[in-house]
Order: sequence, then C-alpha cells, then structure tokens
Amino acid sequence: CGIIARVGHDEATETLLSALENLEYRGYDSAGIAVQNGSGVKVQKCSGAVSELKSRLDDRLHGTVGIGHTRWSTHGPPTDENAHPHTDTVGDVAVVHNGVIDNHDELRAELREKGHVFDSDTDTEVIPHLINEHIERGIDAERAIRCAVDELEGSYAIAAIVDGEERVYAARKGSPLVLGLADGGWFLASDVPAFLEHTDEVIYLEDGDFVVLEPETYAITDLEGRPVERSTDTVDWDPGDAGKGEYDHYMLKEIHHQPTALSNTIDGRVDDGTVAFETPLSQLVANIETVQLVACGTSYHASMFGAQLFRSAGIPTEVIRASEYEAMAGPVDERSLVVAVTQSGETADTLDAVRKAAGRGAKSLAVTNVVGSTAAREADEAIYIRAGPEVGVAATKTFSSQAVTLALLSQRLAGAVPDATPRADGNAMLEALPDLPAHVETVLETSRADSLARDLLEDRSYFFLGSGLGHSVALEGALKFKEITYEHAEGFAAGELKHGPLALVTEESPVFAVYTASEDEKTELNATEAQSRGAPVVAVGPNDHPLVDDADAHLSVPDTHPVWTALLANVQLQLVSYHVADLLGRPIDKPRNLAKSVTVE
Ligand code: G6P
Repeated sequence: CGIIARVGHDEATETLLSALENLEYRGYDSAGIAVQNGSGVKVQKCSGAVSELKSRLDDRLHGTVGIGHTRWSTHGPPTDENAHPHTDTVGDVAVVHNGVIDNHDELRAELREKGHVFDSDTDTEVIPHLINEHIERGIDAERAIRCAVDELEGSYAIAAIVDGEERVYAARKGSPLVLGLADGGWFLASDVPAFLEHTDEVIYLEDGDFVVLEPETYAITDLEGRPVERSTDTVDWDPGDAGKGEYDHYMLKEIHHQPTALSNTIDGRVDDGTVAFETPLSQLVANIETVQLVACGTSYHASMFGAQLFRSAGIPTEVIRASEYEAMAGPVDERSLVVAVTQSGETADTLDAVRKAAGRGAKSLAVTNVVGSTAAREADEAIYIRAGPEVGVAATKTFSSQAVTLALLSQRLAGAVPDATPRADGNAMLEALPDLPAHVETVLETSRADSLARDLLEDRSYFFLGSGLGHSVALEGALKFKEITYEHAEGFAAGELKHGPLALVTEESPVFAVYTASEDEKTELNATEAQSRGAPVVAVGPNDHPLVDDADAHLSVPDTHPVWTALLANVQLQLVSYHVADLLGRPIDKPRNLAKSVTVE
C-alpha cells in the first residue's frame, strides 16, 4: 500500500491525487483521499484505480490539509468500504495506514463493547475509533493519537487528520515513511516518487517517530513527545524518471533505460581490475567466511545469479528465498555475512530473514535501489544498485543492476575472504563489463522479440530452460512472462526437464532455451529433447552455437563474456514477455493481484 499526506497553503486535493498516481505501483485495488477545511473531514474512496477515484470526486473535497491511500488488499477484499481513509463513527478523524495491526481483533472487540460500530473488514478501521475514544475522554487530538498509536501492535505507517485542525499527524513502526520538504508545504509518503516533482529534500523517518505537520512548521518527536534529530537528505533521482516519457508503459521505458541504469551501476566502481564501492566495507568483510543471499521474487533470481559468481570466486555461499529462511538457511555466526537483495528495501520477508540472521550474530549488508529504505538503514552497511526509480510492477532494470552489483561484490569479497580460491577468472568478467551497456543497446535496437511474440500468442504453456547462470535467467524469464501475460509459464534447470516437466511438453508449449557461451551442453541436449516431442524451440543466446541452426527461432545477443551474455539473454526475454502481454491487451504496469513492494509477510 502507499500513503501520502499534504499540508500547505494551496488546495491539497489535486496534489494528493497526482501523488497517488505516482504511488499506484504500491497497490492499485482501491484508492481514497480525505481533506479537511474547517467544516468537517471529507472523504472520497472507492475500489479500483486512482482514475476511478478521480471520476467520483465531487466539489466537497476542498482543503489545504489532506491524506491519501492506494491499497493492496491484505485484510478484506477490495471494496469501497475497505478502501482507506477510514474514519471514526462521527467522521471527525480520518486515517490512512500501511502495514498490519496484529492486535486489531482485540481492539475491535473492546471498542465494540464501548458502542463503536465498524463498516469495514480492515485492521486499519480500529485506529480512528481508538483515537476517537481517547478524544472522548477529554484529551486533545495530538495526545489522543499518541495514546492510540501506543496501543497498536504490528507494523504501521499512519497518517491522520482531525476535524478543525490544520495539521497532519503521522507515526511509523516497521513500514516506510518519508517526509518531503517543499516550498509552500510538507509531504509525507511511503516512498519518494510520490512527491519527487515537488521536492528532492527529504527526511527518512525512523521506527518510533511521531510527526506533526502544520503549514509553517513540522516537528519530529518520539511517541512520548521528546524531540528527535533526523538529518535531511537530497535525493538524486531525476523527476523526469517519474513519467512514462515516449513509451506506452513504464515497463518498456524501464527495459530501454537499462543501458543508462547499468552505466550508473558500474560508474566509478572498477579501477584496474579492482572493485571498490563508496562504502569501503572493510570492517564488514573482515573475518567473513561464508555468505548467505536472501531475497524474494526477481531479486531472488538476481541472487541466484550472484551466488554462482560468489562461489566461482571461491566464497562458500547459500542463496535462500527469504520467506523460507527459517526452514532452509544453514547456521550463521559472526563469521557469516547475510546479504539482503531487495530493490525496494522494504520487502517484509527479506527484512525478517536479515533480522533473524543478525540476531544470530551474522553481519548484514543491503543491496538495494532505495536510499533510506528500511533494509538500507537496518543493515550494517548498504550498497546501492543505482538503477533509478522503477515503477512497473514487473522488475526489469533493477534485475540487471542487481546482477551487476552482485558480480562486482563477488570480486570485492574474493580479495577479502580468507582461503577464497577462485574457480573462474574474475578479471576477464570485469574487463568485459564496460561494454555491457552498449551490448544491451544493441539487443534493444535489433531484437525480433516483437515479431516472435505474434507467433506465440496461440500457445498454451511456455517453458524456459537454462543451466548455470542461464538457469537463473530462465526462472526470471518465466516469472516475468507469467506476471504480465497471465499465461502459464515455468522455468527449469535444463537437466531437470526429463525428470518430470517433459510430460507437459507438446507442440503448443514453446521452449525458450537460454544459453551462454560456456554453459550450454545440457541446455542444448534438453531443448532438442523437447523439440523432438514437437515443441517449438527458441534459442536465446549468441550466434555462434549449434542450437542456433536447429532451433525454430533465435533471439540473438552479442558475443561477450558468458556472465554478461546471460544478462543480455534476459533482456531479450523481458522484451518477449512485454510484447506478448501487449498483444494480449494486459495491464502491463499493474498486473492483477500483484504489488511492487510487499511490506507484509
Ligand atoms: C514483489 C514484486 C516483485 C519483486 C519482489 C521482491 O513480489 O512484485 O517484482 O521482485 O516483490 O521485491 P524487492 O523490492 O525486495 O526486490
């Protein structure tokens, strides 16, 4: 979910709506705003997109103070009633919330006994009722909100307005909240892109912070009211990055942004075969013997890719799906480094896994795209992938930038981990890296993914095979395909095909065979097996390979170091998914049921 709040001298409604559009990637099954202008708190909310909310607005909604929300359902289906903001019974208090209130059942039962009536299935609705209950006891609104927040268990970023007050109150614990300092007023939001067109001056709030915004001033305190010092940061994202530009979809824009994003990822980090990040990492990596990479979704596939490079550099490395950390992770201690790979830096499962590892003594490092994110702040150190804001729910450029950052990190660690005996020539990989952005450009300019997509539309299932680095790319290719086309797609390690999935292969199940120059024999053999059962085979890799002649189609990538060949193959697969989804008329940037940043477990 995404929240926004605005306090200023101008009309808040338009500003809130445009901020909500910028936040839609965080959830888009319902939206709502509340403003107040001294004659009551006015709320408009509905299920559906922000465009639906806009079409329902009426001229009651005036005020210089307001809050807004875009929802991704967790408690209760996407209905008008469940949309935020939520109000108390008399409608004097309105609240937007991101996170989960664990004790909402108990609180609701207590409030019901006191006569409160609830309209929704959400955990959030207890908050305005609780605030109202304290106000009714005769204390002022600020104290009432502090008392209410103190009773909440779970995670939250909350913003609230109260009738008759030119103020926004906000609190955070476990869900992101950033304050934007603009000329003429303040913003509070889950994420910087919400208000990037108004200001790049921000304060990242910390857990336990309580904020009061007024038109001329703001105050940050702890829950008891003691002032806390928070530094101001300047965000270096370009406001131009926020729109779709000349592209039909954010996803296509972000695919095409990869040469620039990768140049930024690499910039200044490799010198004469040596890798150095802005943070030296020396303290962190001293005495490290093993590494665990933890991540979800696309970031997990980038981590698989990275883990292989770590192992090639001689570093014992595990890669673990963050949601399965407890079940799958090996033991850690102070000689272990746990690396959270997370674009947003806010994924609840990933944060939870790192907290568990850190609790057992491991050192922690965040590899993220978002400065000031929870992962960046909680980990001992952070390195940034520098891909720029990504809005399309399906991650594209951040996969590439994560993979390259992890490749660089493998070389940084290779020199630091005692007894690391590299199996592969890291220097050759680094030498080929500066050409990667230009190679991506070549793929983008020459790809025939759009015409291939037309030939694939009638098929029933789509399989993606690869071995080694090609395996992570195959899994990522299948994930992207299912996310945005809604067609059945699966990725396999090439050698696993004959151990089960082959039973599904028919002439209506195209097989994308991802190969790099070196790791290709298994892929070739298994793709041929599928082809002999009638499946059309699409070879995805460099020209100089036996599979190219046998395959039914070929998506070509420049011949470079095999590590980068795998990433180039992934760009081809991004384009295939995009074009198939586009031809099928899917809502590419906002696939059903998915959210870009999943801040609940
Ligand atoms: C969600 C998104 C995925 C993303 C995953 C991990 O499921 O829909 O695209 O890969 O979260 O996100 P993170 O921000 O941790 O990389």
